[in-house]
Amino acid sequence: MTHSSTLIAEDIEQYLEQHATKSMLRFITCGSVDDGKSTLIGRLLYESKLVFEDQLSALESDSKKVGTQGEGLDFALLVDGLAAEREQGITIDVAYRYFTTERRKFVVADTPGHEQYTRNMVTGASTADLAVILIDARKGVLTQTRRHSYLVSLLGIRHVVLAVNKLDLVGYSQEVFERIVGEYAGFAAEIGLDRVVPIPMSAYCGDNLTERSPNTPWYQGPSLIEHLETVDIGDDLRTGPFRMPVQWVNRPDLDFRGFAGQVVGGVVRPGDRVRVLPSGKESTVARIVTMDGDLEEATAGRSVTITLADEIDVSRGDVLVSADALPGIADQFEAQIVWMGEAEMLPERPYVCQIGTMTVQARITKPKYKVNVNTLEQTAANTLALNEIGVCNISFDRPVPFDAYTENRDTGGFILVDRLTNTTVGAGMIAHSLRRSDNIHWQAVDVDDEARSLLKGHRPQIVWFTGLSGSGKSTIANELERRLYALGCHTYLLDGDNVRHGLGRDLGFTEADRVENIRRVTEVARLMADAGLIVLASFISPFRAERDAARELIGEDRFCEVFVDTPIEVAEQRDPKGLYRKARRGELANFTGIDSPYESPESPELRIDTTVTASAEAAAQIVEKLRSRGVIA
Ligand code: ADX
Repeated sequence: MTHSSTLIAEDIEQYLEQHATKSMLRFITCGSVDDGKSTLIGRLLYESKLVFEDQLSALESDSKKVGTQGEGLDFALLVDGLAAEREQGITIDVAYRYFTTERRKFVVADTPGHEQYTRNMVTGASTADLAVILIDARKGVLTQTRRHSYLVSLLGIRHVVLAVNKLDLVGYSQEVFERIVGEYAGFAAEIGLDRVVPIPMSAYCGDNLTERSPNTPWYQGPSLIEHLETVDIGDDLRTGPFRMPVQWVNRPDLDFRGFAGQVVGGVVRPGDRVRVLPSGKESTVARIVTMDGDLEEATAGRSVTITLADEIDVSRGDVLVSADALPGIADQFEAQIVWMGEAEMLPERPYVCQIGTMTVQARITKPKYKVNVNTLEQTAANTLALNEIGVCNISFDRPVPFDAYTENRDTGGFILVDRLTNTTVGAGMIAHSLRRSDNIHWQAVDVDDEARSLLKGHRPQIVWFTGLSGSGKSTIANELERRLYALGCHTYLLDGDNVRHGLGRDLGFTEADRVENIRRVTEVARLMADAGLIVLASFISPFRAERDAARELIGEDRFCEVFVDTPIEVAEQRDPKGLYRKARRGELANFTGIDSPYESPESPELRIDTTVTASAEAAAQIVEKLRSRGVIA
């Protein structure tokens, strides 16, 4: 028995070789220190053959190396995942421990149990096959037991061990055990947990841990370790139809065209008909290649490189699926969302969404409701705060292949990343697609961009002015429009103050309202650019996420960001509308630069320092820019 307190790559390699043929069970433990969780994990590790503690930092630099070793990928994925979160500056408090017994390998995710740690639990549980829910026999089913169980069910873990612990402290009472089991059963059924195995235990005394205890002669079931070693997880979410998101194409060290990734659903064999989504092209699997040679079949969990019989286009982010059992393809969904960000969710803000190996832009609507994780009550909500769970509609900027999360956790689950901080702010589970997204299509038109440009004598463009209130955006935009008009260009000026009288009349200046204001303006500007105009959009547009989203939606070549850079002291001194004075007196809340943030552009097409550049000169610079971009002649 080797107990090591640090994890090093050599240990792992040795370990993998010794235990390569054993199957792997991933599980999560839920409960608090008071329930005896640490004792339980300590005992499990002590009883096992070989242990890697959670000193992940030692592994971080070596994880790639380990990742190339067949089964070792399991480790690398888990460890990489955690390391990535750390890099991004969040401390997600999950410890993974690896151990083996005679029959199986285990990864146990240990997460703190308090309510504020929902996000830890989500992180730990997202790859788990089984959950051990600890109950203190003296206390019975508690609020936290319900909370943990709800999360376990939400995250698609179907196998639960109800570990009724500290039974020694209630005299190994069968009655106590059965009362707790009975109470839990009703609740479990309500939330759809139908594979619950209750075990009477004392982790401290070692009862029913490795073998059945003489202290509980009335108990005929397996010990915890026996159960963990033998539980059949073959019926888990990976047994559905074949799915493989493509991680990368054309590995440079191979002399053939292969598509590498992890099988996340079903089984694949040479000769199988597969379809590539979203393109829809079909082919037949030629070979399944691994470092250890070709395979006759690969099941879920396995990382492989697949070659196809036909030369068809496949790229990273595509999904290979069984041609006989296709997933859906949609761009709008109803999903359960667990919010993990410090800042609350902003409806309609564009977040980066990772689903499978695909990255898309996602916007979430106001929640339909949120769920109180303690009482399971559904309440109305406008947003989701840290650790809150809600049901929302979400739309992606393009169609993606998907399964319901209850069918497949990998093709039905996604994470949301904040653009600015690059941190994970949410985890989502697709319930179903929205039918409306299946029935609205783009209408093809014959008079296209090219034709319009020919008629107008210039290309369409959106000149997007951003800057503080009083920075001089409107003055410069006005000057620019005059000049473009003189050059015979077709223009339209969309100005913050004006638009807010109509299109945005219902909006104020909270973060959420500004997000929505810019979303609407972006859509309108896009339509105007489609109509062939040069659009001058002049809005404070204080958030980078919305400006970047506008750029993505409209397209690089049609979007020209102009940062009207005026120090707040200068803008405040000008104070053309007297608003800074009002804001300083406390009569105007959420004023940009005072009690509402402004995020400067990082790489605008043009930056104008109004302390040294007059508006006429600024307008001339923009005209030059439009010339060099080929917008005007
Ligand atoms: S944005 O943040 O949503 O882009 P927008 O450009 O439409 O703002 O509107 C800004 C204009 O509204 C300012 O020029 C100013 O005249 C006025 N205004 C009124 N209240 C505020 C406020 N709290 N913060 C900023 N501008 C405000």
